[in-house]
Parts: sequence; C-alpha cells; structure tokens
Amino acid sequence: MEENLDPKIKKDEKLVERNLRPQSLAEFIGQNKLKEQLDIFLRAAKERKEALDHILFYGPPGLGKTTLAFLMAKEMGVTIKITSGPALTRAGDLASILSAMKKGGVLFIDEVHRLNKIVEETLYAAMEDFALDIVLGKGPSARSVRLNLEKFTVVGATTRIGLISGPMRDRFGYVQQLDFYEDDSLTEIVSRTADVLGVKVDLGAAVEIAKRARGTPRIANRLLRRVRDYAQINNDGLITINEAREALEMLGVDELGLSEADRKYLDVVKKNYGGGPVGVENIAAALTEDVGTITDVYEPYLMKKGLVKRTPRGRVVV
Ligand SMILES: Nc1ncnc2c1ncn2[C@@H]1O[C@H](COP(=O)(O)OP(=O)(O)O)[C@@H](O)[C@H]1O
Ligand SMILES: [Mg+2]
Repeated sequence: MEENLDPKIKKDEKLVERNLRPQSLAEFIGQNKLKEQLDIFLRAAKERKEALDHILFYGPPGLGKTTLAFLMAKEMGVTIKITSGPALTRAGDLASILSAMKKGGVLFIDEVHRLNKIVEETLYAAMEDFALDIVLGKGPSARSVRLNLEKFTVVGATTRIGLISGPMRDRFGYVQQLDFYEDDSLTEIVSRTADVLGVKVDLGAAVEIAKRARGTPRIANRLLRRVRDYAQINNDGLITINEAREALEMLGVDELGLSEADRKYLDVVKKNYGGGPVGVENIAAALTEDVGTITDVYEPYLMKKGLVKRTPRGRVVV
C-alpha cells in the first residue's frame, strides 16, 4: 500500500504534497465535524493567548494528519518543528529539541507510535510538566537538575493508535480520528488540486477520479497526476470523463478504487480460505505484513466498503 511505494516515487510525492497542502482550516476540505471542533479549539486558545493543548491525530495514511498539524501551527501563528518516532532515538535529542522550543511552538511527531520507551517516557513527562529532569555527572556524584521549558504543543500523528501506550495517550488533551472521505469531498479535493497544478479537469472527470481514490486524498491527488500525464500525451490537455476512465483503466485502478494490496487481501481470503472465516494472523502471514498493519491500515477501508467483515471466528469476505 502507501508504504510499498518505490522510494523515488515516494520522494517525488513528498515534494508535490508540500505544494498541495491546504494552508488554512477553511481550505481543508471535508471532515466537517473535526474542522468545527478544531476551529473552536484554536479560537479558544488564541483568545486566552495560550499554547494549544497536545493533539493526537490517528487514522490510515493519506487522510490529512500531517496537513492538519501544519495548518494548526499556521493558524496559531507559531513555528513548527518536525520530527518522527523513528528519528528520535535518544532522550538527549529530544531534550535539545524541547529546550529550543519557543513559547506556544508546535512539535510535530509523525509515527508517534514508534518512539522508543526511554524517549517516550521523557516526552510524556515533559508534556505534562513542561520541564525536563536531566542527570548531570555519573556515579555517586551524579545529580539531577530540573530544566524548565516554554509551554509547547505536541501534535502527534499515527496510523497505529493501538500501539500508543496508555500513559502517552493520556497526555494528549485532544485525540481525533480521521476517517475516509466521502466521494463529494474527494471530488472537491481533485478540483482544488487541479487548480493548483493548472490542469483543466471537468466535473465528470473529477467525480470519476474521486470514486476510485480509496476514500483517500493522497491517492486522489496521485491519480489526478497520472491522468494528467495521459491526457497531455493523448489529447490537448482537457480532461473529461473519457480520458479519466481510459487512463485509470490503463493504470489498473478498478471501479472501487482498491489498491493492489486490497485485492491481494481479498484474493487470499477467497482462494486460500474459501472466503473465511479466517484468523487475521493467517492473512497477515500470506501477505507478509504484520497483524497491526492489516487491522489498522488495510481493513478499515475494506470494511467501510462492506467487502470484509470481522466476526468472532475471523475475517469473512462478503
Ligand atoms: N482535507 C483535505 N483537503 C485537501 N487536501 C488534502 C486534505 N487532506 C489531505 N490532503 C492532501 O492529501 C495529501 C496527503 O495528506 P497528508 O496530510 O500528508 O496525510 P497523512 O499525514 O494523514 O498521511 C497531501 O497532499 C494533502 O495536501
Ligand atoms: Mg503524514
């Protein structure tokens, strides 16, 4: 799925994504309930001239977690420092980042479920007390000093909420799930991206791309770029439903917008297990994925589409 992309494509995509990101809450399409709450949360903190409480966004890849982190900082008018669970290997690295944070600044930690234990413990103590306890020296002469920090905001993002420890999760005053997008929001996203890229896409084509985007803005934007390539070579550049369909067919994106990985999942359950019920461990082994990725990344969309059901005896393909 997202993670299986060729690293070069992934890098290009990161660059493109940076330009496509909505810069304000108003520009962020869909997720209306979430937006409403964030708006109140932002305005209240601004009015009190306080740092935002710590925020945790979770949900499948490509739904806008990173985008929201950036735009929260922008809306607050504060600086954002970016890191990730796997990048923060030592408590000392975290300490130097935190001690350099400005008042009200945002520390965005992507893949926050991948922090190691020591860093995690240092972090949640700092999130609670806005202070770090640092041990100076070694042996009998070692002593601990307390370093006070400016009030900062951690915005964490994860695709794997189940892997966040209880104490870590409790430090976030605001925990919000991002859900798959409805087709009409995705259509709007495709049209917006087309404007940003200067591509002419009619409404029918935008709807067609949206329908096949697995409920995911990142995939919608990717499909649009591929359709654009196709239209550029095959006609004068205006993308109508015909070009969209031809291009998507050529790319092997099916009507439901399922990815290669989704189809493999369904195939395994149907062919190897007669449609189920089958334990998720068996599916994970057949796909050489870990169980958590199957449950947190693959299955939510398949279940939303009614293709897979979780039953007490295992997964069933409907
Ligand atoms: N609600 C939205 N409106 C417009 N574009 C969006 C929205 N959500 C995500 N995107 C776009 O989709 C892409 C992936 O979003 P990102 O925030 O990186 O997802 P995540 O961090 O959840 O994996 C980005 O290019 C972003 O601009
Ligand atoms: Mg992200």
